[in-house]
Amino acid sequence: MRAKAKISSGCSTSGRMTRSIGPIVLSNSSNSSLGQSAVYASYLRWSAILAASIASRLMPPTEPGPIPMSKSPVLGMFWSTKESSAMLKPPTRLDGASVMRHLSVPRAQTQHWLELCRTKQWNSSTAGVTNLEDGTNAIPLNELAPREGDPIWEGHPHVDITANVRPKTENWLDHLDEDFVAEHGDELPRSFEIQGDVLIVKLGESIWEYGETMADAMLTQFPHVRLVCGTPFYSGVKGEFRIRELISLASRDGTVSPRTRVRENGYFLWVDPSKVYFSARLSNQRMATLHSSKKLRNKLGRGLVVADPYAGVGPSMASLLKEPGLLSGFLAGDLNPDAVELLKLNIEYFTSRRKDSEGNVAEPLEPSEISCCDAKSWPLDTKNQGVVDLLLVNLPHQSIEHIPALLPLMSRGHTTVLRGWAITERTAISDIESSISEAVLGAGGVVEQLSVHEVKGFSMTKVFVCFEAWMFLSS
Ligand SMILES: C[S@@+](CC[C@H](N)C(=O)[O-])C[C@H]1O[C@@H](n2cnc3c(N)ncnc32)[C@H](O)[C@@H]1O
Repeated sequence: MRAKAKISSGCSTSGRMTRSIGPIVLSNSSNSSLGQSAVYASYLRWSAILAASIASRLMPPTEPGPIPMSKSPVLGMFWSTKESSAMLKPPTRLDGASVMRHLSVPRAQTQHWLELCRTKQWNSSTAGVTNLEDGTNAIPLNELAPREGDPIWEGHPHVDITANVRPKTENWLDHLDEDFVAEHGDELPRSFEIQGDVLIVKLGESIWEYGETMADAMLTQFPHVRLVCGTPFYSGVKGEFRIRELISLASRDGTVSPRTRVRENGYFLWVDPSKVYFSARLSNQRMATLHSSKKLRNKLGRGLVVADPYAGVGPSMASLLKEPGLLSGFLAGDLNPDAVELLKLNIEYFTSRRKDSEGNVAEPLEPSEISCCDAKSWPLDTKNQGVVDLLLVNLPHQSIEHIPALLPLMSRGHTTVLRGWAITERTAISDIESSISEAVLGAGGVVEQLSVHEVKGFSMTKVFVCFEAWMFLSS
């Protein structure tokens, strides 16, 4: 007799720990309806012992033969013992579906047992939970899981049933219940962001309570994601540090720290989306910064001193430090102390691996300063004045107004470059050009070349632009 199974829609066996955010969470209680299962279990244990003893008499001990495995050898209802005459390894069905050992538990305890199996790495990585008709759930086990009867299972029986093998899917939505998708289709998130092994998704108010279910589906779909975090519907990017509130929804390994490493343009950077601004979308801007820097180095015929006073975790610094022989020194910082912590980690990593243009260990960088401070305070220290060849200004809502205060950092008597990013009204791009020209004039210099170009739209009327000014400040 075959157990009638129905595919579970709410649970998958992707290993993950979850944080409860709503009523969807399965109970963690492990003390309900033990009685009935315990009766089955002890009955089956005795029948299994009996069957084992019959099998041991039937099978010569020295001959290789069927592997004793469990009490219901072929697709049997786990409470039916008529077919359990010997403990033989269950065969693969003729139609290709494979039979797998499962732990049968009351539905309300599914989450608890899933967590235990994942933590111990006893759950199958290829199959999901199966709902059995008697109101229990069957969790697929792998060969590392202890045998039935081990005290760890607290009397819950094992059943051999056809595995609910997850088909290969293209979309995380495929891991959700079809009715749920049909009901909430329009509200389900269409996009998300991945930083390293952290997935960040914005959830609307109407589906916030289902965050864990959706996060679990995402973990199932994306094997390289460790942690799924939600940005709540009530919060957006906030404050001068431009960071979002993140709430962990599901974790593959129980760790809930969003600190992670992202790979960008062939190198790794420490980031933490819960504490520091970082946008992978601007990686092509950093490549363009590298391109302009190389042009300036070629023009000056020597390594450059760069200032990146709004450095965040330092993605621009990383791309410049990685280029052999490009830099001779740097000033880098941020107002956000969490950013500076990661900036230090990233800069230390890249400076310790620096090479000169011949591939030899590079000369120490001079200056070599990392500071947690307001960008406008760098030029107040006289030792920082007149030393910078390339200045990066990335505070898009205020870049233009900060420029005059920063220009005293620029080196004099030769060409230097100011490169930055700003958010402006689409109709006010020419105002940016005038503001930069005026600031350079005010610092006693002339603009040799100036470009302002749109990188992307920001809102209906505003655009995100990149500006680059090549200038000469007289000595
Ligand atoms: C748009 S982010 C740019 C970060 C980084 N340059 C990047 O491309 O990823 C702006 C950064 O400026 C920092 N910031 C804001 N106000 C600042 C100030 N007055 N002085 C220095 N840094 C500031 C923020 O903490 C944030 O990390």
